[in-house]
Amino acid sequence: MALELLSSYNTWPELLAEGYESGRSATSNLKFERTPRNIIVCGLGGSGVVGDFLRVLSFIYNFKVPVHVIKDYNLPAWVEDSLIAAVSYSGETLETLKCFKEAVERGAQTAAVTSGGRLESEALKIGAPVVKVKPGLLPRVALPSMLGGLIGLTDSIGASSVEHEKILEAYHELRNVTVDDAEPYANLASGSDITIIGACGPYSIVAERWRQELSENSKILAKTESYPESAHNDIVAWQAKRNIKIGFIAVKGGDRVCEAIMNYVTEIYKRHGETLELKLGQPSLANILKGALIAGYASTIAATIKGVDPATTPLITGYKKMLSENLKL
Ligand code: F6R
Repeated sequence: MALELLSSYNTWPELLAEGYESGRSATSNLKFERTPRNIIVCGLGGSGVVGDFLRVLSFIYNFKVPVHVIKDYNLPAWVEDSLIAAVSYSGETLETLKCFKEAVERGAQTAAVTSGGRLESEALKIGAPVVKVKPGLLPRVALPSMLGGLIGLTDSIGASSVEHEKILEAYHELRNVTVDDAEPYANLASGSDITIIGACGPYSIVAERWRQELSENSKILAKTESYPESAHNDIVAWQAKRNIKIGFIAVKGGDRVCEAIMNYVTEIYKRHGETLELKLGQPSLANILKGALIAGYASTIAATIKGVDPATTPLITGYKKMLSENLKL
């Protein structure tokens, strides 16, 4: 299973490019008199994280409208004039379906990013644009399809400004990432009781993604620290010593201030356990996805080292079953 997963991660450059094209072509019946005042992305887990990536891109590429991410089954009161994009790889996630339904009931402009399921059929029923992404993958592996799709969709209505050139740049960057790049991190995480991933500014999303990938693929306990915020609370935990094996990954890159912050934090990490740096340079779509792809590879290799199946997530399945008995659409 690990080999199959690794070869799916290998297809990220193509998934991104295809996703972007399918996002751009989904908007022909999306009619706005003016650009929406907000982009709201509804989604959970490997699909919801796509909204977090878009939100970070909104800072890097100076979008004209803010991006909000809802990882819940209720919408806020202020959805008027928003584009509500429901992202669910399976199209069957109840929280996302509930958000989509509420958005439609409130008359908001909606769109769906999915490989099928009920989300696709509900969106088609009301004539909302559907960005169809490649089926047959695990949602977490389909990240570039869904992100590319969402970027294509929002770029084409003028709500975002990532543009084709950045997609191409990311395509080439992703092609240069190899499994070997991920090996040291896999060894570190699989040999630790807990893995701490620290990052600053826009790279906090990379740390988040690492935590999710280590949890889902490798079944490894992980925690993220997001600087500068973590310098005002989480950092204090390192005043105490612990008798567990802690592995640290310090994501490096960003502006001069972020660099100084992460250098400072790395010195603290080193006093508590083995610390590896993940150097990503200036924040861009390409570098953020590069960090995420290394996480995909590393967490799959770590699963192999630990002897666990990276693909199966029975506790998510169990949760979804429980939810279906409690959340009615
Ligand atoms: C990631 C994963 C989960 C799902 C989440 C939502 O690979 O399996 O995090 O992404 O349970 O499901 P979808 O993505 O189908 O809406």
